[in-house]
Amino acid sequence: MKAVEVADRVYRLSANIENGDLFEGIWPIPEGVSLNAYLVKGEKTALIDLVRDWDNAPSKIRDQLDSISVDFSDIDYLVLNHLEPDHTGWLADLRQKNPEMEIISTAKGVDLAKAFFDVEEKIRAVKTGESLDLGGGKVLGFYEIPNVHWPETMATFEYSTGVLFSCDAFGAFGSVGEAVFDDQLSSEEYDLFEREALRYYSNIVSSFSVFVQRAIKKLEDLDIKIIAPSHGIIWRERPTQIVEAYSRYASYLKGPAEPEITVVFGSMYGNTQKVVNRVVQGIRSQKVPVHVHQVPNENVSYVLASAWRSAGLVLGMPTYEYKMFPPMAQVIDMFERKHVQNKKVFRFGSFGWSGGAQKETDEMTAKLKWDFIDPVEWQGAPSDEDLGKAYEQAVQLAQDVKSLAE
Ligand code: FEO
Repeated sequence: MKAVEVADRVYRLSANIENGDLFEGIWPIPEGVSLNAYLVKGEKTALIDLVRDWDNAPSKIRDQLDSISVDFSDIDYLVLNHLEPDHTGWLADLRQKNPEMEIISTAKGVDLAKAFFDVEEKIRAVKTGESLDLGGGKVLGFYEIPNVHWPETMATFEYSTGVLFSCDAFGAFGSVGEAVFDDQLSSEEYDLFEREALRYYSNIVSSFSVFVQRAIKKLEDLDIKIIAPSHGIIWRERPTQIVEAYSRYASYLKGPAEPEITVVFGSMYGNTQKVVNRVVQGIRSQKVPVHVHQVPNENVSYVLASAWRSAGLVLGMPTYEYKMFPPMAQVIDMFERKHVQNKKVFRFGSFGWSGGAQKETDEMTAKLKWDFIDPVEWQGAPSDEDLGKAYEQAVQLAQDVKSLAE
């Protein structure tokens, strides 16, 4: 694989991770994920972000450097926008190959380089507005964008080409093949990237949505021509598209999100499933898009993506030993951690022997600013009357969700 020229003397070096590992040890990436680093050549040479030793990523980067006749020892500066090990794990090895290279990061990044890699020499902290002149017309500017994704994160901007190296910001899951730029994707590839960008956002960034909005505001005065993130494709034809997508995703924190409904349910013996079928009919009767996820069969990563963009949620669960069905508790716990807030919600389920699921739902969701409509509960198997009530509530929820969008 060869380095890809992004702009005049700016190159992308990338490794796809496709070995079946989980991202961050949690999130499935069946479509892979790319780790992107970038090389800027002035009179001096800067490498922006790195990779970890994962699925042969370092040797893939070396091959791409070879393709532009650059050796690791030619790198004068290593800019670390973000210290999470997917972008820095190979730092100590690179330092060994090139002890003279100077590392540039934020003050908190400098602390983390010491904490993770015991690196504390030839490393320098920069602040927003500072720049690094590489000579030959290439100047890098630094912009702190804390908490997108960690507190130390910054973005780097190359002034002569208008390339923004945004690290996690504007990233997506999904390996990148021959089509590296937004204008090279087929419509199927584009749809996949859009889905994987939302899943990445909801899994990795959603907790920091307020900071995403601040970062977008902070960067809006830059004359950005190309957005080059550390995961996913490069946006050169329509860089505003991914910025607008991220801005929209961030807005879902306070709601309303899209006029759609996500149904999440667990069913032990098929009784909850029966009600799900009626609920889905009720939602569809109002022509509101509905996404249905059964847990634990489906990974919470996908439930999160769907729930994040939906204004309405339906939770279906049996009571299990005086509490809610445990896989649903895991989902709601993840919703709480990832700030899935400000939703219209309908819950239904059996109350077992003496109830419990509703009480636990109320306790677990107290901080999420959810607006519940009346639940439907029954004992044992749902009667026709129970099914009818659930249908009516689903219709009500769908109408409420539609009215939020008006
Ligand atoms: Fe891609 Fe937060 O690291």
